[in-house]
Amino acid sequence: MTGRMRETPSKGCPMTLDLDRFPRAALGRWPTPLEDAPRLSEALGVPVLLKRDDVNGLGAGGNKLRKLEFLLGRALADGADTVITFGALQTNHGRQTAAACAKLGLRCELVLTAKVPRDGEAYERSGNIALDHLFGARVHVCADAEETARTYQGLLDEAAAEGRKVATFPVGGSDATGVLGYVAAAGELAGQLAGNGLGTARIVAAHGSGGTAAGLALGTELLGLPVRVDLACVGHPADESAETLHRLAGAAAALLGADQPALDHVRITDRTLGEGYGLPTGEMWQALRLFARTEGVVLDPVYTGKAAAALVDWAERGDLGSGEPVVFVHTGGLPGLYGYAPEFAAAVR
Ligand SMILES: Cc1ncc(COP(=O)(O)O)c(C=O)c1O
Repeated sequence: MTGRMRETPSKGCPMTLDLDRFPRAALGRWPTPLEDAPRLSEALGVPVLLKRDDVNGLGAGGNKLRKLEFLLGRALADGADTVITFGALQTNHGRQTAAACAKLGLRCELVLTAKVPRDGEAYERSGNIALDHLFGARVHVCADAEETARTYQGLLDEAAAEGRKVATFPVGGSDATGVLGYVAAAGELAGQLAGNGLGTARIVAAHGSGGTAAGLALGTELLGLPVRVDLACVGHPADESAETLHRLAGAAAALLGADQPALDHVRITDRTLGEGYGLPTGEMWQALRLFARTEGVVLDPVYTGKAAAALVDWAERGDLGSGEPVVFVHTGGLPGLYGYAPEFAAAVR
């Protein structure tokens, strides 16, 4: 899709929201499908559509490809030949960065921190981490923040000594540039909603490092779309997540030449976060079974499973408005399921 979006006057909206002025690496296939989910809709008692950002092509797919198109576009424009990024052992962001770097011929250094209290063969060696190796990334596993910082500095020193130019991406690819990927997604979705004759919708998505949520929230506000954005925390409590959301959306708005957005159309819940990031809950496994057994769609235990649990919770409380369709953004994460293989196997029997 093109980065040029419909011009709709709204608070803080620049005359032209022209994403084409930002360098962009072509990685994914756009638009991703917006699919009906009739059996899931029947089960939940609300019309649900699935925005399939899990099937966007490269490296087993997922939401990070949208951010990486802008992050890597900028990195290439800056002459970088090496990418360093960070995450948990089962980071989907790291895996998609590794795949994108393979495609673009860049060196990829993944600095992973064992921050989820989980161990065992599946979590430490399978799922995303096996794919990181498959895509040729150099994987550095660190025990804590101190070792992570030391490792990062060592990689910078090594690159400098070898005359390589480094681009560093934050956890989840969530900075102002990365957020542009989901501003573009909001534009894409606006076209699909209009194409389906839908005037309004509730967009449901996971909020982890926050870039996906910030892009959706900012993009829909700048476009003046009559939608609500409902976010499920998967990493941090609601107050911290809200703070991150406003910071990232504000930074991306500044990049676009727009004012700090109000984001009055956004709500955030941490009711289905459970005990914390990467820690499975019973409601999450239930939501995985529901999506799989009604639509044949696979969610993941860390992100989309908890967002789906929030969707189920909102539906059960009758807290999803009066009949407007829900667009559940499937942000990917399937490989992570294999990092949880023993619990996964037990949960599906
Ligand atoms: C599958 C999946 N869904 C959702 C998210 C959350 O996106 P964000 O970090 O932009 O909040 C992530 C982040 O890693 C992810 O891997």
